[in-house]
Amino acid sequence: MKIIAYGARVDEIPYMKQWAQETGNELTIKEELLEADTVEWAKGYDGINCLQTTPYSAAVFDKMGDYGIHYLTLRNVGTDNVDFAAAAKNGVTLANTPAYSPEAIAEFAVTMTLNLLRRVGEVEHALRHGDYAGSTQLIGRELRSQTVGIIGAGRIGRAAIQMFSGFGAKVITYDPHPSKDDTLACRYADMDELLAASDVVDLHIPGVPANDHIIDARALAQMKPGAVLINTARGNLVDTAAMIAALESGHLAGAGIDTYEHETAALLDMAHTGRFSDPQWDQLQKMPNVLLTPHVAYYTETAVHNMVTFSLTYLTELLTTGTTETIVHPK
Ligand code: NAD
Ligand code: COI
Repeated sequence: MKIIAYGARVDEIPYMKQWAQETGNELTIKEELLEADTVEWAKGYDGINCLQTTPYSAAVFDKMGDYGIHYLTLRNVGTDNVDFAAAAKNGVTLANTPAYSPEAIAEFAVTMTLNLLRRVGEVEHALRHGDYAGSTQLIGRELRSQTVGIIGAGRIGRAAIQMFSGFGAKVITYDPHPSKDDTLACRYADMDELLAASDVVDLHIPGVPANDHIIDARALAQMKPGAVLINTARGNLVDTAAMIAALESGHLAGAGIDTYEHETAALLDMAHTGRFSDPQWDQLQKMPNVLLTPHVAYYTETAVHNMVTFSLTYLTELLTTGTTETIVHPK
């Protein structure tokens, strides 16, 4: 089969080449994203494979329809950037890669939490600025004494629940679609209770419009004074201006933000662009009680290998049988 992969990162390319060699498929690899002015490279191919957080627009799907390309697989989880109506209109079936490694993202959320509770950034900042006395007086908190509130008990949320309970934390979760897994080491709570009771609020929900600013000024005010907020899910979930105000007032003790509200392709592509900057990003970067990372929670060797091989396999299944286990049906 003839496949074209867009948005290929340097570390994905060896896995792509190996997969093509082992499966005997013809694979063309492009570093560029799938956009209105690059989709024409796909003319004559059977299917498209992609990774990007920028929009999969109507213009892209219209051209796929014109070229008779009906299958697109994503190497990632989130589909909040897909124009599903345009995909359906053009007869394009889309599958994502929902379980390349939920543990990778959950571990990152735990890593951020431990860092913030032990105030590592603040200690280091004090030391670097010659405040030697101050650097020894930033007392931390142990996870086993904390209540962790996980919003979203899907694949990543459930992995996070297991990890946090392994540290002895009391874990509660809110999800309107509770998991049938009764071995989960946590109790379901409603959103108001979760916000009021948690020392750590950890988000693992999709960035669909209904979840836009789910953490706004009101939700932040409901949170415990001294709580920390972790967002490795999507930037639009948090009202950044309100979060900055809560950090400045001291109501929030810290924040771990891997997915930033005003993230653009430039942030994810710093290997080429060199630097990302905007006023709120720059402000957050100066705060020693904030961990700001450029959407890298997923980024492990295991995850990258699985993203490539799983998504390409889903594409060949779609091309040969018309179906695969991870077709996305938007709700
Ligand atoms: P999932 O579909 O398995 O689980 C999401 C859960 O969220 C579902 O159980 C759903 O019922 C619940 N949910 C939806 N809206 C909710 C709300 N308002 N309140 C409470 N619960 C709600 O998805 P997942 O694999 O766990 O991934 C979650 C998100 O993580 C993805 O959508 C993606 O945006 C993000 N993600 C980020 C990275 C990264 O590198 N930072 C990597 C992968 C995924
Ligand atoms: C996802 O898998 O949804 C991510 O956020 C990872 C990113 C490389 C797009």
